[in-house]
Amino acid sequence: MSEGTTHVTTNDFGAPAGSDQHSLTIGPGGPILLQDHYLIEKLAHFNRERVPERVVHAKGGGAFGTFTVTNDVSKYTKASLFQPGSEVEMLARFSTVAGELGSPDTWRDPRGFALKFYTDEGNYDLVGNNTPVFFIRDAIQFPDFIHSQKRRSNTGLRDNNMQWDFWTNVPASAHQVTWVMGDRGIPRTWRHQNGYGSHTYQWINAAGERFWIKYHFISDQGIEYFTQTDADEMAGIDGDYHRRDLQEAIDRGDTPSWTLKVQIMPYEDAKTYHLNPFDVTKVWPHSDYPLIEVGTMELSRNPVDYFAQIEQAAFAPSNLVPGIGLSPDKMLLGRVFAYADTHRHRIGPNYAQLPVNAPKTEVNSYSRDGAMTYKNYPKDRAEYAPNSYGGPHADQSLSTENNWESDGDMVRQAYTLRPDDDDFSQAGALVRDVMDDAARDRFVGNVSGALLGGVTEPVLLKAFEYWKNVDAEIGSRIENVVRSAQAENQGSATANSSPGRDTDDELLAARR
Ligand code: NDP
Ligand code: HEM
Repeated sequence: MSEGTTHVTTNDFGAPAGSDQHSLTIGPGGPILLQDHYLIEKLAHFNRERVPERVVHAKGGGAFGTFTVTNDVSKYTKASLFQPGSEVEMLARFSTVAGELGSPDTWRDPRGFALKFYTDEGNYDLVGNNTPVFFIRDAIQFPDFIHSQKRRSNTGLRDNNMQWDFWTNVPASAHQVTWVMGDRGIPRTWRHQNGYGSHTYQWINAAGERFWIKYHFISDQGIEYFTQTDADEMAGIDGDYHRRDLQEAIDRGDTPSWTLKVQIMPYEDAKTYHLNPFDVTKVWPHSDYPLIEVGTMELSRNPVDYFAQIEQAAFAPSNLVPGIGLSPDKMLLGRVFAYADTHRHRIGPNYAQLPVNAPKTEVNSYSRDGAMTYKNYPKDRAEYAPNSYGGPHADQSLSTENNWESDGDMVRQAYTLRPDDDDFSQAGALVRDVMDDAARDRFVGNVSGALLGGVTEPVLLKAFEYWKNVDAEIGSRIENVVRSAQAENQGSATANSSPGRDTDDELLAARR
């Protein structure tokens, strides 16, 4: 903060104020006068300082930066931001999902990884997470899923039983829950996590050829995590640890960066791939579709006004640019509605006019009026389309460039299953093939700890079954640790000792 400023305080309309400290009163003891409009402006504006927090991803932080293309992917997309030589200004916001605005950064949860690219073809938003998959595969389940993770309406408390009841009743969640219960469920900092688009998107090249793609932003800082114990401790010491870390790193010039890589699936492959490539609960194995480098994202500029630039930042999967489109992922298609809708409610119908959300390009839409309009509608522009006065007209060549075939009866049904579309295989691969012994031990500790945090029958039994479906051994280990701890708590002399691993005895000892 600069000291010794010589500016005179003004009211919000620029007129000088008479006092920063004293209300206008009759005598020093009051009463206060209604004509003290400066006092009233201060109090009334203060009363309106908050907008509703985001219904999910409320706690977060972010920074501005640059995306620079490092590899030629022009044969896959014509999007200008991904063309050789392109350098685009951008904004990133990281967040937890279920916690409120003041909640600790180090609670176990997926992290939001929301990006806004201010391209010369309009804004492109990629609203992803630090995980490549998600808990559900149909948007109609999202409110139920979130209600199971948020506070109960009767107690105002979060409830592990409710959380695990939802998860175990929705086996599609297994892959994501496995991911979140592993080391990456609590990143050490936002700088030490990857970001993923999670959904499959479509890229379209200049010749109109279509490709299916998945985005991976790989941290150049490497992956680092907090153990549950360290994260719990940090939650008590500094609830804003991640927000602070990002700001301080940027301030000291230690600018974090990520390398964007994509997996590219030829359009026709999707029809016969062994699993549904549009199911957001699945990854595409790297061995099938290797990562191809695209560019680098570097965050170098902290916001100067957190409310204006981060709280009011509005990311939406519907913000697309030519050359990048949607896919037939039912979650993604639901999200295309949800975000712009919540922004109109949370920030206001003209949120697109705020500097952080406004594109750097000219806006030639026919939208006008509404609360807080401050950009003038161009004086000579027609008010409607079509018109006879040279008003903006749509580019017909873009009308259906992002497309795919679709046919069938109107139904309410799950995706048609393909050979490898089960809910548990990829979660099992994560536990068996990706985690090492130490990571598996921490995983068993994390899951058991969560289950011992208030999960009761019949949900507990379902949870053991769920984990045995992911991996028989890991499920038995979790059951053993939980049952033994319960027996111990009830003063029972004999603990169930089925798999009998030293590490599980240690886990149990750590819980005592
Ligand atoms: P690979 O061995 O090629 O990839 C495994 C990937 O797992 C790594 O590249 C790394 O992804 C990621 N990873 C490493 N440690 C962890 C951890 N503790 N928690 C979560 N992810 C971790 O195998 P496949 O591509 O065949 O995938 C096997 C399993 O790996 C999948 O079932 C999935 O659970 C997980 N995975 C796969 C990803 C994919 O897109 N194929 C992406 C991330 C995880 P990264 O390089 O992105 O850091
Ligand atoms: C935020 C809805 C799935 C990532 C939000 C918000 C809503 C929402 C309403 C608040 C936005 C705001 O107020 O600014 C939904 C719905 C989903 C869904 C309906 C499923 C149908 C997902 C998935 C991902 C994701 C699958 C990641 C792949 C995010 C992120 C934010 C967010 C990162 C925070 C954006 C920011 O930083 O401002 N979501 N979401 N969401 N969502 Fe989702």
